[in-house]
Amino acid sequence: MTSLIDKAMDTAIAPGFSNIGYRVRRRSWEPITESLDGQTVVVTGATSGLGKAAATGLAGLGADVILVGRNPDKTAAVQAEIAAAARSTTVRSELADLSLMSEIRGLADRLLAEESAIHVLINNAGTLFTERTVTPEGIDDTLATNLLGHFLLTNLLIPRLVKSAPARIINVTSGGMYGQRISVSNLQNDLGEYKGSAAYARTKRGQVILTEMWAEQLRDTGVTVNAMHPGWADTPGVVKSLPTFHKITKPFLRTPAEGADTIVWLAASGEAAGRTGLFWHDRRPRPTHKTKRTRERPEARTALWDALSELSGWEGGDF
Ligand SMILES: NC(=O)c1ccc[n+]([C@@H]2O[C@H](COP(=O)([O-])OP(=O)(O)OC[C@H]3O[C@@H](n4cnc5c(N)ncnc54)[C@H](OP(=O)(O)O)[C@@H]3O)[C@@H](O)[C@H]2O)c1
Repeated sequence: MTSLIDKAMDTAIAPGFSNIGYRVRRRSWEPITESLDGQTVVVTGATSGLGKAAATGLAGLGADVILVGRNPDKTAAVQAEIAAAARSTTVRSELADLSLMSEIRGLADRLLAEESAIHVLINNAGTLFTERTVTPEGIDDTLATNLLGHFLLTNLLIPRLVKSAPARIINVTSGGMYGQRISVSNLQNDLGEYKGSAAYARTKRGQVILTEMWAEQLRDTGVTVNAMHPGWADTPGVVKSLPTFHKITKPFLRTPAEGADTIVWLAASGEAAGRTGLFWHDRRPRPTHKTKRTRERPEARTALWDALSELSGWEGGDF
């Protein structure tokens, strides 16, 4: 019965993305009881919303958590808050603006120098820019923050994750990607009129494509790579970027912890171990397309990888 209702919610979209979907589906879930003692987890965008909730959940399971933030005061405050509530005694933080490739390289250098093992990488940082802006490095901010930075950080850390295997990479994407196909010729969003939601959704589509590519490249290494979407959660990011949507849907939005549940589950659960290359929502793999219109050709994937390599200065090829 639950699975019939679940299918109906998948088709209708809105109820499934809302807190109604979460409440119906969680009735069949087991609590996450796995211990993450001795596991090192890196969470980007850990100072707010879903990233903060995921980091709190993982620290509660005993993981040594490294919070990546960009604002020193905010990051220190969140670190203190999570450390006070955590079962793990090790909650550390790193600072980096993840829209800047130079800062990502610095962050990766520090992590590789200081962490002999990284077991989980959660690429969660992301923003919807209502106006087109460009970083000091000349990259469209939507692309830089939501896709290019994830691409570079992940590629730089993969060798350490492989060395630490079994290890897991989790990419936090969005159901908004159902409406968009990747556009390699317009990655910088400088062709035609800029529409923030569409530009955002294309980067989220890109994360799903990269997830599948990394999963293929890392097959047999013990490193799994999955994407997830949280549904609609009441976070500072939604309040800021989508104020009208937030006002209308507020009673139906998930809490940050509810939105982050599948992040924590993918990072910790025995059930998720070994599953790779999938797109998850509420602890179940979901289709990556709802219409043929959003499908890309295989050549577009290779072109995406090459374009991201060039823009980020990644010269390591694939794995
Ligand atoms: N909430 C939802 O309903 C929803 C739905 C679908 C997908 N998502 C995805 O979930 C993820 C988290 O979103 P959220 O709703 O929790 O938003 P949020 O409350 O705005 O949190 C976003 C996090 O990303 C960080 N961040 C943004 N740009 C950054 C940069 N250039 N460098 C370093 N950190 C940066 C933010 O840092 P500051 O604290 O310094 O701002 C913050 O910690 C995003 O990838 C978003 O696309 C959310």
